[in-house]
Amino acid sequence: MRPTIDVPLTLDRESGVPLAVQVAVQLREAMRTGGLRAGERLPSTRGLATLLGVSRTVVTDAYQQLYAEGWLDGRHGSGTYVADEALPYEKAEGRDVRARRAVHREEAPPGMVDLRPGRPWVFGYDKAAWRRAWRSAGQLPLNAFPDPYGHPELRELLAEHLRRARAVPVGAGNVMVTRGTGNGLDLIAATLLGPGTRAGVEEPGWRAAPRIFASRGAEVVPCPVDEQGVIVEALPDDLRVLYTTPAHQFPVGGRLPIPRREKLLAWARRTGAIIVEDDYDAEFRYDVAPLPALYGLDPGRVVLLGTLSKSLGPDVGLGWLVAPAVLLDAVAERRGRLADRTSGPVQRAVATLLEGGDLDRHLRRMRLEYARRRAAIVEALGPYVRGDTAGLHVMVALPAGVAPGLVREAGERGVLLDTTEAHHHGPPRVHGLVLGYGSASRADVRRGCAVIRELIPPGAA
Ligand SMILES: Cc1ncc(COP(=O)(O)O)c(C=O)c1O
Repeated sequence: MRPTIDVPLTLDRESGVPLAVQVAVQLREAMRTGGLRAGERLPSTRGLATLLGVSRTVVTDAYQQLYAEGWLDGRHGSGTYVADEALPYEKAEGRDVRARRAVHREEAPPGMVDLRPGRPWVFGYDKAAWRRAWRSAGQLPLNAFPDPYGHPELRELLAEHLRRARAVPVGAGNVMVTRGTGNGLDLIAATLLGPGTRAGVEEPGWRAAPRIFASRGAEVVPCPVDEQGVIVEALPDDLRVLYTTPAHQFPVGGRLPIPRREKLLAWARRTGAIIVEDDYDAEFRYDVAPLPALYGLDPGRVVLLGTLSKSLGPDVGLGWLVAPAVLLDAVAERRGRLADRTSGPVQRAVATLLEGGDLDRHLRRMRLEYARRRAAIVEALGPYVRGDTAGLHVMVALPAGVAPGLVREAGERGVLLDTTEAHHHGPPRVHGLVLGYGSASRADVRRGCAVIRELIPPGAA
């Protein structure tokens, strides 16, 4: 039997971070940096608990988490070992489904405060309304020939929702029901792009956009943004498609001002480019008047993409693509050939939520809750905060080089963060943190911000 190694661990009982999280964080870091190596045996849960003066559950919980992430290997009756392969992802292949999922989805370990962006609050919905929606979906006969445009009834309801909530002059004939923004963007890319075409993405921006464009054969062109959004003067003339987030730029947080919206549309008319407007975060806006969607300003040049991922949750898998009728027909034709579709029962359930006003009620509740979390961030980190007038994230501006170390240290103190540097396609040009407050409770937002405040170096504002 291989010897048990000694692990130097220190616990801070005053920090408020659960002890199991502290143990898991330190063991993970030791494995990441080589302090603990593949095949080495960890102390027994009982032995380590005694050594640390904690209950055995603390150590068992920490080990369980590291098993789930693929860092540890357990052999029945013979102890706990550091997994053989260096990469936990590779190690997880072939393991049980739970372990693989934990690695794929980068779920936060229990007890950690998760302030990473792109994660909505998925606990606040009305469970009774949800069950009603699914009862109604269950009554629908299964359709052998799913319509590539989506259910006519849901297209009608979505058009009405867009007219009401976004003042977009749209009829059902312009709406296709998708599985979300990623699906909509891919359908546009499959229809309009290919080898020899150039597609613009925001820099920094949503990382999925360049991946989707590249996977359809286009050359990806990073287009710089400033604190207001995409910089029109910097756009080249030969883009077939430009992907942009005017309602709340991800991750810098700008809301594209009207004059710049008009300039952008003039650029598209002059060059013949199609603008793909990710209407991301438009549902959530704080203390500012709504701005018209680009689609509403020029329906001939713009494709608008929307999603329920932020308002209900990405697990629902429902979004919309709004386009001029001719382009929509081309997308539907391409979609049919790719055997791509949106689940019928999901469409029926969402139609019920829209019909009964349940989605509107949910949005009103969530707006209040998110506004409070956003206020907590502004209160704690005011001078550093940018782009806080909409959406579920803000940017915390920091001098170059500060954010990566800060993220590491915050992780050790139980707070998960993300940098703006990580959302660049090329070399980083915008520096700081991108803080998401969708998936952390108000108390956790406060806790996380207190840790960030302590870690920001003096004079960094
Ligand atoms: C900028 C942006 N747009 C859209 C989405 C949602 O995409 P989907 O509807 O495919 O879940 C995300 C998710 O994180 C995002 O960051």
